[in-house]
Amino acid sequence: MINFKTKIAEQIAKVTNISKEELETYIEIPKDTSNGDYAFPCFRLAKELKKAPPIIAQEIKEKIEVDENIVTKIEIAGGYLNFYINKELMTKEVLGEMANGESYGKSTIGKGRNIVIDYSAPNIATPFHIGHLRSTVIGAALYKIYQYLGYNITGINHLGDYGTQFGKLIEGYKLWGEEYNIDQDPINELTKIYIRINELCKKDEKVLEACRDNFKKLEDKDPYCVELWEKFRKLSLQEFQKVYDLLGSKFDSWNGEAFYSDKMPEVIEILEKSGKLVESHGAKIVDLEDKGINTPCIIIKSNGSKTYATRDLEAIMYRARTYDYEKALYVTSYEQILHFKQVFEVAKLLGLDEKYTNGLKHVSFGMVLLPTGKMSTREGNIIKLEDLLNEAIERAKQIIEEKNPDLEDKDEVAKQVGISAVIFNDLSNSRVKDEIFDWDTILNFQGETGPYIQYTYVRTKSVLEKVEQLPEFSKINLSKLSDEYSQNIIKLLYNFEDTLIQVTNKEEPSILSRYLIELAKAYSSFYNENKIITEEQEIQDARVYLTYSVGKVLKIGAELLGMQMPNKM
Ligand code: ARG
Repeated sequence: MINFKTKIAEQIAKVTNISKEELETYIEIPKDTSNGDYAFPCFRLAKELKKAPPIIAQEIKEKIEVDENIVTKIEIAGGYLNFYINKELMTKEVLGEMANGESYGKSTIGKGRNIVIDYSAPNIATPFHIGHLRSTVIGAALYKIYQYLGYNITGINHLGDYGTQFGKLIEGYKLWGEEYNIDQDPINELTKIYIRINELCKKDEKVLEACRDNFKKLEDKDPYCVELWEKFRKLSLQEFQKVYDLLGSKFDSWNGEAFYSDKMPEVIEILEKSGKLVESHGAKIVDLEDKGINTPCIIIKSNGSKTYATRDLEAIMYRARTYDYEKALYVTSYEQILHFKQVFEVAKLLGLDEKYTNGLKHVSFGMVLLPTGKMSTREGNIIKLEDLLNEAIERAKQIIEEKNPDLEDKDEVAKQVGISAVIFNDLSNSRVKDEIFDWDTILNFQGETGPYIQYTYVRTKSVLEKVEQLPEFSKINLSKLSDEYSQNIIKLLYNFEDTLIQVTNKEEPSILSRYLIELAKAYSSFYNENKIITEEQEIQDARVYLTYSVGKVLKIGAELLGMQMPNKM
């Protein structure tokens, strides 16, 4: 497709002294169609040119030479220049591209560029909770979108499979292992052992000592401790896999914290040499006060064990070397903002090329709240994820039973609808916002939900079923799509690729979810206002083809978010 934004930027570049690449990043797509298809804000040039933005706009408008077949009108509105694109050309570009197979919106922008994304990362022997679900869902959506744009992306499940808690679990298992059926229900049983041993540790210093000793032994590769640790890890992973199967999650690497356990001497040595590693109350820390971070980063605890942060530092070195990344993303809740600030700051001392430290990015997200308040382990209202997903499927099934009892493959569709509802809910608002988890809202077929996107998609499918054959693009009379409703859709379809690029600029999948809602709404208006199946063949063909195009983009977009699309529901 012709890239209209680039075309405009090229022309503005000729009359200013700013590169077209930079100008392209300034150009906006106005929300309100009365402001044209593209808007160039002149504010950024005001300081340099020492002129008022409206004057700059006027000057650019006078000097600029744009192809009239592409841009039909340029208007000044305040400090903005608004550009109007030839509608028929845009229509032709969009629909012509649809005819080229299944890759609408695919790009090569990411070719040869490496991205690492660290997401999901539940902790062994503890429940996979709703925060990990959010991380899994946001991470998977980003993964798919980057990949669609041609990036070389590596997804890492940085499992929490190491740390002093394993010393405790080993001790608990030694004492009472026989009493618990950990093969049957590993996570719950291990959690019970963990709680019990913690109680005992509080009362008995000697037991605590034994726990510490176990962890030390694990670090030193003592066979018995390693064997138990492997058992806990394996059983936990089997449990986690149930959730991953429901969500369809895949990872390229399962290197968790344990993977880095014997690689850490390197980090410590480098930090020692940098002179920044100092003793404090028996621990070794890096003070970050001068970087505006009040809490120091602990590298080695007073009992000699390394920390979560130390393992993350080693992981950075490993990822830089192994994946030569441009960006390394970390998807966790905002509770870890301080952790990543510290780690990213200390990483600058590791002697890595600057491009690696500049590429580190914490993709944080808000909490999941029940309508009644925070979900938390301590208050006991923790929801087991597998149960939650199964409940989503069950509820979707009930709705389908009411609405469409004769539907074929009800179970399969219920799974697609239920899981997608949960996924879409996780992605529908900007990620830093806390999210309210409310069944009625997320499963509402008419709300701004996953099921609504699916429902609209199914609608496009049933329209297509009414015609024998999809009309050929070359035979379509594009002028039949000049009405407002069709044009709203065309414009949205045109902006699909740009939407995906914005997602990767901000690591914000909600930009795509909002887009899909807009598209579904635009289609609903089109559907309500325009008769699609009519006597007039030319009109019908054009509208059917547009319907086909909407369906295609809804499906591609929804699948990029991790949803699955039913053909009927
Ligand atoms: N296991 C951690 C948790 O549950 C998340 C790990 C995130 N990744 C990382 N490299 N620190 O909170």
